[in-house]
Amino acid sequence: MTKQIELIEVGPRDGLQNEPSLITSEDKVTLVNLLSEAGFSTIEVTSFVSPKWVPQLADAHQVMTQINRKEAIRYIVLTPNQRGYDGAIAADADEIAIFAAATETFSQKNINCSIEESLARFEPVLAQARARNLPVRGYISCVVGCPYEGDVAPEAVTYIADWMLARGCYEISLGDTIGCGTPQTISALLDRLTADIPAKLLAGHYHDTNGRAIENVMTSINFGLRRFDSAIAGLGGCPFAPGAKGNVSTNALHDALSEAGWHTGLDTDRLSDAAEFISRLVTPR
Ligand code: HMG
Ligand code: MG
Repeated sequence: MTKQIELIEVGPRDGLQNEPSLITSEDKVTLVNLLSEAGFSTIEVTSFVSPKWVPQLADAHQVMTQINRKEAIRYIVLTPNQRGYDGAIAADADEIAIFAAATETFSQKNINCSIEESLARFEPVLAQARARNLPVRGYISCVVGCPYEGDVAPEAVTYIADWMLARGCYEISLGDTIGCGTPQTISALLDRLTADIPAKLLAGHYHDTNGRAIENVMTSINFGLRRFDSAIAGLGGCPFAPGAKGNVSTNALHDALSEAGWHTGLDTDRLSDAAEFISRLVTPR
């Protein structure tokens, strides 16, 4: 049996949303086009969020409509509300992602509303997406720890995951937003989640703040997860989670998985091309 793992590239969105240097729309388009050559089936391109909150992604429409789209690739965008959904439709996104948090404080800091208010905003977005057969991914932030509230109980995550799955999300991406997760805390979370939710409906989205993201991916594989988000060259962080570093590096994760006998279907040279291109443009950390 082939040991297959799918990496979802989130660098152009999660990586660049917090980037202090000005990255032009043209360079973002080039980055996505380079990534499109590397063998991904899903690339998260940008977010339709308030340009006052995330100035770096204010050119979402421009980038989405200028990239060279490949038939085999789903180009995904983040949509926090109706306005974001309308932007995604106008830009002909193949897929959208809604994003909630497991803690009240992070929800307020990130999207300026409570958890329940955020779910109420997602409800009509999910209904419209269902009517269009548009796939929706559900993100949950702070799945094991929150920069404001500390440790997070698995039950807080289960509640939102069940809510999202019941309304048509095809997958839940589990965000270790500040990269505080360890094999122990990720195991406790997945132990609880996989008791009710099939592992194939769960993906890992692990930031690498403490350098443990690859270990956390390997731990998650033992629970049956096969899909993980990663960012080219380990770009990024979240502007509303102080100190959080980028997602696990696509390049490093691909290498670690390959060494462990897993296939990602990605082309190492093309990944290096994309990483070299963007690394020249971002502020060194
Ligand atoms: P708000 O201020 O509460 O919303 O923002 P509002 O409805 O009162 O609108 C205020 C202004 O924003 C208005 O403009 C709206 O038109 C505009 P004004 O009248 O002041 O000129 N607006 C929008 N503009 C463009 N697109 C929109 C939109 N919505 C309203 N969709 C809102 C609420 C959610 C919009 C805001 O808080 C926001 O944009 N937050 C940014 C959220 C974000 O992008 N966070 C980072 C991504 S999440 C993440 O990184 C975590 C993840 O990676 C997983 C993990 O690691 O944990 C996914
Ligand atoms: Mg993230």
